[in-house]
Amino acid sequence: MRTSLDLCVCLLTLCVTTLGRTGPGVKVVVEEDSDAVLPCSLSTKEDITGQAFDWRKDFQKKVFVYDSGLHSNNGFIGQDEQFKGRVSHFQDKLMNGNASIKIQNTKMADSGIYSCFFPNLQTFIIHLLVERLLKDRSGETTGASPKPRITVLDETKDWSLLQCEVRGAFPKPKVEWQDNAGNILPAEEPPVLERGGRYYVTLIYTVTRTGCYRCVATQEEISHQIYSEMCVQLNG
Ligand SMILES: *[C@@H]1O[C@H](CO)[C@@H](O)[C@H](O)[C@H]1NC(C)=O
Repeated sequence: MRTSLDLCVCLLTLCVTTLGRTGPGVKVVVEEDSDAVLPCSLSTKEDITGQAFDWRKDFQKKVFVYDSGLHSNNGFIGQDEQFKGRVSHFQDKLMNGNASIKIQNTKMADSGIYSCFFPNLQTFIIHLLVERLLKDRSGETTGASPKPRITVLDETKDWSLLQCEVRGAFPKPKVEWQDNAGNILPAEEPPVLERGGRYYVTLIYTVTRTGCYRCVATQEEISHQIYSEMCVQLNG
């Protein structure tokens, strides 16, 4: 009992010492689906083309390995499935001691602590935070609002009465009409119906100007947003 606790404390101390020597680390923040460059450069700027470095996520998963020209994209085996085909290094920067990597098309799951390790025991720590975006997630999240349905309820040459219906969403979606420029158009608080744990929203808007109009459904809780558009031609 005593021995394993001592070992544990010892390992912790080692870890703290290693982190302490390399500083608190760099923070990189990117939006979901974009690329992230994780910086890692030796202050000596020595040529590392013939050397080795090893990138890991959360001190465990193999992100990218380089050893004297052989690397994860030309045959070096052992890269974690999560990073296959998405990580590259900057070959022309190696001669300046720059072992930075780029992760393409970042996902929420890529958020975490990355370490860039050189065999001479120098380690750099980079915190990557991938921020979730509002986007269409109808395929990946249950309860995500389907595409709103727009219908013309009535029209004259001067105006057109548009109805937008959002059916069967959970959690409760916010439904809004927007003009081409993305301005939110004033509308009455829509009637909301709840049935079987799903929400049904109907929102009406009277268009008095020629243009294209969007009905947008947003569920912040699950970062889901989806819209439909209708263009109206008035002769007034
Ligand atoms: C290392 O290379 C990357 C990628 O080109 C660049 O973004 C970064 O600024 C470079 N770091 C230094 C210290 O030059």
